[in-house]
Order: sequence, then C-alpha cells, then structure tokens
Amino acid sequence: MIFITGGAGFIGGNFVHHWFERLAKLGLPLEPVLVFDKLTYAGNPLTIKAHLDAGRATLVQADIADRDAVRQALAQHKPRAILHFAAESHVDRSIHGPGEFIHTNMVGTFSLLEETRAYWGAMNAADKADFRFLHVSTDEVYGSLSDTDPAFNETTAYAPNSPYSASKAGSDHLVRAYHHTYGFPTLTTNCSNNYGPYHFPEKLIPLMILNALDGKPLPVYGDGLNVRDWLFVRDHCEAICQVLEKGRLGETYNVGGKNEVKNIDVVTTICRKLDALRPKATGKYEDQITYVADRPGHDRRYAIDPSKIEREIGWQPAETFTSGIDKTVQWFLDNTEWIDSVRSGAYRDWLNTNYQSRVA
Ligand code: NAD
Ligand code: TYD
Repeated sequence: MIFITGGAGFIGGNFVHHWFERLAKLGLPLEPVLVFDKLTYAGNPLTIKAHLDAGRATLVQADIADRDAVRQALAQHKPRAILHFAAESHVDRSIHGPGEFIHTNMVGTFSLLEETRAYWGAMNAADKADFRFLHVSTDEVYGSLSDTDPAFNETTAYAPNSPYSASKAGSDHLVRAYHHTYGFPTLTTNCSNNYGPYHFPEKLIPLMILNALDGKPLPVYGDGLNVRDWLFVRDHCEAICQVLEKGRLGETYNVGGKNEVKNIDVVTTICRKLDALRPKATGKYEDQITYVADRPGHDRRYAIDPSKIEREIGWQPAETFTSGIDKTVQWFLDNTEWIDSVRSGAYRDWLNTNYQSRVA
C-alpha cells in the first residue's frame, strides 16, 4: 500500500482520485492508500470521501511531526512507498505567520524522514530495495526569474524568497542529505503552480472564480504582471506516478506545464469563461477587477524547464492552460457542496487578515 501525507489537501486529494482511476485504466490490481493528514484548514476529507467510504483509502488524522503517530501508522499499514505532500503551502499565510511553515515543512519532514528511515532500515532486502520516499516540492525554492531568464532546471541554484519557499527548500535539502548520507531511497519533484478541482479558495484561481460569482472585488496584487507557469493538477499527479515507477534514486525532477501566464491574463481568462457560462445580469466580470497592494517580496516570474522528466521518464502534460482552465471553471460551477464545506469561519477570518490591509 501507499502512504500519502497531506492526502486530504488539494494536490494530495487529487492524487488519491488519480491513483485509483489510473490503476483501473491500466488494469492493475487495486492497491489501497493510507492518507496521513492533520486536517488543517486546508485538509478536507470530503475531497476523498468516495474512496474512504469504499474502503480503498484509510484516513489517519495526525501531524507528521508526531513521531509516535507516524511510527504507529507505518508499523500498522506497512507501506511500500511514502508520497509526501503534507505542507503549509500558501505564501501569503507564511508572510503573516511563518511558524507553522517551519513546524510542518521542516520539523515535520525531518520527523517523517527519521521514522521512515528506521522503518526502511528494518525491512528485508527485497522490500528495502523496492521502497521509495517521494518528496513533493515546489519551483519556488529557485527564487524569482526576470522576463528574459531561462526557466528553472534541476541545477538552478536555490534562492528561496518567502518563509514558505525557504521552509520547502530546507525540506528538500534534508531529503537530499538522507539519500546522500544514509542511502535512503528518495525521489524529489519540484513543480510549478497547480490548478484544478478541489483547489482551496485562498489561491489565485479558485479565489477569482468564487469572488467573481459572489460579485466581490477580484484583488490583483501589484501591477498584475507577475508570471506563473500553470500545471493542471492531474498532469502533476500523473508525473508523480511515473517518477515513482521510473525515477532514479536520489534525483530531482522538475514538473511544469509550459504554460507561462501573467496574473492579469489568468484573471481576465476566468472572467471571460464566466461571462460565457454564467453571464451577469448587467456588465462583465472584468468590471470587478481591483488592483491592490502588492505582496511583500513578491516573486516576479516562475518558469519550469521540464526537459529532464520528459527525456528520462517520458512524461508530458496532457492539458493546455485553455483546456485546464475550462475544466476548472466548470468544476467550481458544478461543486457547490464542496465549496460550501471549505467556506468556514476560519476561511472568512483569513480573507479579513489578508485583504483588509490591501486597500486599492
Ligand atoms: P494544501 O495546502 O492544499 O494541502 C496540504 C495538506 O497537508 C492538507 O490536507 C493539510 O491538512 C495537510 N497538512 C498540513 N500540515 C500537516 C501536518 N503537520 N501533518 C499532516 N498533514 C498536514 O497543499 P497542496 O497545494 O495540495 O500542496 C501539496 C504539496 O505540493 C505541498 O508540499 C506543496 O508545497 C507542494 N506544491 C504545491 C503547489 C501548488 O500550486 N499548490 C505547487 C508546487 C508545490
Ligand atoms: P498563489 O495562488 O498564492 O500562488 P503562489 O504565490 O504560490 O504563486 O498566487 C499566484 C499569483 O497570483 C501570485 O503572483 C500572487 C497573485 N495573487 C493575486 O494577485 N491576488 C490574490 O488574491 C492572490 C491570492 C494571488
């Protein structure tokens, strides 16, 4: 079985769906998953409810920094691989409160590595040779690009700029060191901005879709010309499956969709889709765009060079930004039950914290 940390979050939850659909599509036997998740504000069991109800997935609610809980779950479920998605993941939250980012992304990853190394060390030779620890990381560890810089590749020097990216960089270094020092069988992926179903509405794309539908301002930071390289979440999930199967131990693989888009163009694209699918009584959704104070230390541009994963693993994204955003907007129009479930009081408090000080 597979042990998935953060499997009730955005990417981890999509991964659980992708895992079972992929096994069925390839005619492979059903391999169950253990979702090990603290269920922070970003974790939502509703995302994976169908798999929990069917008994294919089991949820353990615990913190990856709780070594006793990790040890117990490993001993009980005996996984052949760990897929490590769990993290504090939102840059703006890391600016308001970096402590949780150090706790989960660095101390939590360290705890998970220590317990998993002990578990792996006690395995028989055959199981030990097959075991994998796949660490899911971000392109933000490489820092910020100018408009003309080449895209990040696996040899780009680390230069993290936010507490979030610094804590992820720290976790990447620990994973690297565990391979180098202990021969621990690690794989690391560094991907660009994901988007798609079940995306928590604190991030750009879901926030804009839901604010637009609610008739609220669409808050664009700074001049709106920052660039992100958008990756449809299911393309990322497929990349992880393929790296797990074919990745070389100790290596890192950059995963990107080759879809560099300026923030303002992301927002106007969403507005135009909504104009077509859910027209307003009067005016256009673009009328709601509001420029607000910039994010402190806002990285200008991210772009991924995915040639290593294409060449060595044979992975390619299936979605363009146009096809992926169509699916995403439609999903948010169709899934009001899930949306209502994440709009808790805690989420409304966050909107006040982040946006009240960003007066246009
Ligand atoms: P998310 O914030 O949506 O979900 C994180 C999940 O981890 C949640 O279910 C949460 O409950 C769980 N979690 C948080 N702290 C925990 C802890 N201490 N112990 C156990 N579980 C805990 O994040 P996401 O967008 O799904 O990102 C998943 C991974 O991918 C992260 O490692 C992130 O750094 C990386 N990543 C994300 C993106 C993106 O665009 N979303 C891009 C690049 C890399
Ligand atoms: P985000 O989704 O937070 O991802 P990241 O910071 O990890 O790239 O933000 C994507 C881009 O959108 C980033 O340049 C910041 C910008 N942004 C806004 O302009 N307005 C918003 O309300 C948010 C949340 C983000």
